[in-house]
Amino acid sequence: MSTVFSQAPKRIPHPPKRIPFIGDVLGMDRDAPNQKTLERFGELGPIYRRTIMGTDLTFVGSAELAATVFDEEHWEKFIGRPLENLRAIAADGLFTAYNWESNWAKAHEVLMPGFTKEAMVSYHGVMASAVDELSASIERQGETYIPTVEEMGKLTLEVIGRCGFNYTFDSFTRTQEHPFVAAMSRTLTYAQKAGIPVPFVGKLLRRKDEEQNRKDYQLLVDTVDDVIAERIKSGERRPDLLDHMLHSDSDVALDPENIRNQVLTFLIAGHETSVNALSFALHFIAQNPDVARRMRDEANAVFADRDATYEDVAKLRYTRQVINESLRLWPTAPGFFRAAKHDTTVGDYAFSKGEWVFVLLLATQRDAAWGPDAAEFNPDRFAPEANRGRAPELFKPFGTGIRSCIGRQFALHEMALALATLVQRFDIEPEPGYELVVEETLTLRPKNLRLKFSRV
Ligand code: HEM
Repeated sequence: MSTVFSQAPKRIPHPPKRIPFIGDVLGMDRDAPNQKTLERFGELGPIYRRTIMGTDLTFVGSAELAATVFDEEHWEKFIGRPLENLRAIAADGLFTAYNWESNWAKAHEVLMPGFTKEAMVSYHGVMASAVDELSASIERQGETYIPTVEEMGKLTLEVIGRCGFNYTFDSFTRTQEHPFVAAMSRTLTYAQKAGIPVPFVGKLLRRKDEEQNRKDYQLLVDTVDDVIAERIKSGERRPDLLDHMLHSDSDVALDPENIRNQVLTFLIAGHETSVNALSFALHFIAQNPDVARRMRDEANAVFADRDATYEDVAKLRYTRQVINESLRLWPTAPGFFRAAKHDTTVGDYAFSKGEWVFVLLLATQRDAAWGPDAAEFNPDRFAPEANRGRAPELFKPFGTGIRSCIGRQFALHEMALALATLVQRFDIEPEPGYELVVEETLTLRPKNLRLKFSRV
């Protein structure tokens, strides 16, 4: 399909002070690129392009334009640079597979049954006991300001480890980081840095990093392969993701290397985004005692003196509103890439087949369509009556279309259960004078967030 314009198509705006040959490098922020991009939309409009050494990076920041690139008929997921770098670990796992790789469709078919309501019911007990262990771990630490991201990380890692592969990292009992977790965290950092050219003096250091990375990756692979081999040997059947991969309901079978890539994928995708989302939500809860009170009233009304059941979690409507609002303001996956399937347009601009954009959720989810207070935290905007008729492109924290998040219900269930339980059991206080600073890695997270939990 080719696009016909009555006039020459417009050129996409770019930041001022373009440097010949090098391009739009001024005004970039290596530490907080997504937050910098958010600011830029204010000056340059809802779409703009940085051209760096001949490569175009186009950013979309309004819900209206985002709706165009969410249209699956004309646009599709694109494996942009950060995802390309992740392929060093997760290869053709679900998250980083190219659309054309046959293993994506196979794994999607094999793994979808692992995320049905029936599957979620079977994970509930595992999640609930991990939440209890988290609550006990918090209580043991007494009334101190607890590093929140680290503490919530214990929960999300245990939940994905146990529900995914019946594997525990002993997060709540160990005093030192698990070697697998340390290796995973180093390989992720290495993968993200790998694409960045280093000056000559940095090359020696990089060689040392390369060596460490080889060892780390080997440890990840050996651990995962052991878990898989043990399960095969035991012949045991369990209600977890690994079982779905080893005993698919369909005719499709995944090869052993791909199963390993899926396990690594779930450990990355199922952990980072959820822990940060939980932490942002706790930040807002600590900053807004009236929100905490409403959540506690709701939890007490739904499960006062007993453990929450699977069905109870669906009744935590206000808690869900708090989670949504937190994910709206600080989507922990700050955006995603979309590529044109054929020559097409976005607004007044022409795109050729294969050209791609990065949709910055940080901007689209604060679109003026949310009202003049779009930048403020207000869970009531997700109340059923306020929410009726809202355009879907205004809220896409879990991505869009066929390649959207397979773990969405899993994450929402885990977060609602954890937050309702914590709010019911503890008063949660912020550190005096804490100002939210958002740190950027592959995901967004609240920097140095420490909260005090006092048993009610
Ligand atoms: C708050 C938590 C989470 C957020 C915000 C989130 C966000 C996302 C987003 C935006 C995408 C699409 C990325 C793209 O288009 O490039 C995605 C995909 C994915 N997510 Fe999540 N996610 C979360 C939790 C989880 C959990 C708990 C799991 C696993 C249990 C998971 C597994 C995946 C997988 C496997 C994909 C790739 C799906 C595919 O392409 O077929 N995510 N997620």
